[in-house]
Amino acid sequence: MISEINEEKIKDYFSEKVQTYQFEIHDEIDSTNARAKQLYAEGTERAVVIAESQTKGRGRLGRSFYSPKGNGIYMSILFKTGREATDAVKVTTFAAVAVSRAVERVSGLKAGIKWVNDIYINEKKVCGILTEAGFSNESRGIDYVIAGIGINVYGREFPEDIRDIATSIEAEIDRTARNNENAALQTPDRNQLIAEILNQMEPFVTGEETDYLEEYRERSVIIGKRVNVINGNVQYPALAVGIDDDCGLIVEREEIDGNVTGERKVITAGEVSIRLQK
Ligand code: BTN
Repeated sequence: MISEINEEKIKDYFSEKVQTYQFEIHDEIDSTNARAKQLYAEGTERAVVIAESQTKGRGRLGRSFYSPKGNGIYMSILFKTGREATDAVKVTTFAAVAVSRAVERVSGLKAGIKWVNDIYINEKKVCGILTEAGFSNESRGIDYVIAGIGINVYGREFPEDIRDIATSIEAEIDRTARNNENAALQTPDRNQLIAEILNQMEPFVTGEETDYLEEYRERSVIIGKRVNVINGNVQYPALAVGIDDDCGLIVEREEIDGNVTGERKVITAGEVSIRLQK
């Protein structure tokens, strides 16, 4: 059964540490990230904006994000921060670890991370994250962060352009349960999943997170795999070999015929996307 999103129910699942957020829950909105940005401009320092559907859901690299009613969680977490500009990549990668932990905790499914912050279950994408940060001219640090999270919770039908890579938590529970009758899995209550994401994000919001890089690496679904690196019009096949201490992806370029050339490159998140080779 599809759970209604409700502020009080979300709060029932909060851990003690989670500080108060201003909540906005919309039936339909253009983009929860856009709304969070507007709230910050109006003086709000901490908010969670959630919508049942988005008409202009934003994805990474200027793409749109499929956000139909009733299927998912579309949420943006806004918080003011005094972090250094060099921490920007941590927002992105910590959010990926936090969402993975939350998905696992409430569903029982194993969640992996496709660099830089897509969440994968059984080799398909269940969640995309778009983090946006505002920088201060004075301090040259980060003023505020918006972590926009889109999760396919229910549903098995996806538009043709994403059908091959998209899945939902519910669909993966069915698939996993068919293969392993003993797996302890449950389709999550969306309120519980939203609360668990906020619980897991809290150490980062308060600036008290412990080292999470090793976990980020362990959750990677692309290390050791052949990928296509796509940078605008430039594309090349490569082997993903590791993640460096700044969360850059280390790849070895390949020849067209599949031989590894040995030329190493470190890719930073910015404008690059990675596709797993089939
Ligand atoms: C991606 O996969 O490219 C990132 C998708 C991020 C989508 C979420 S849904 C909630 C928030 N609001 C948006 O407009 N985008 C993010």
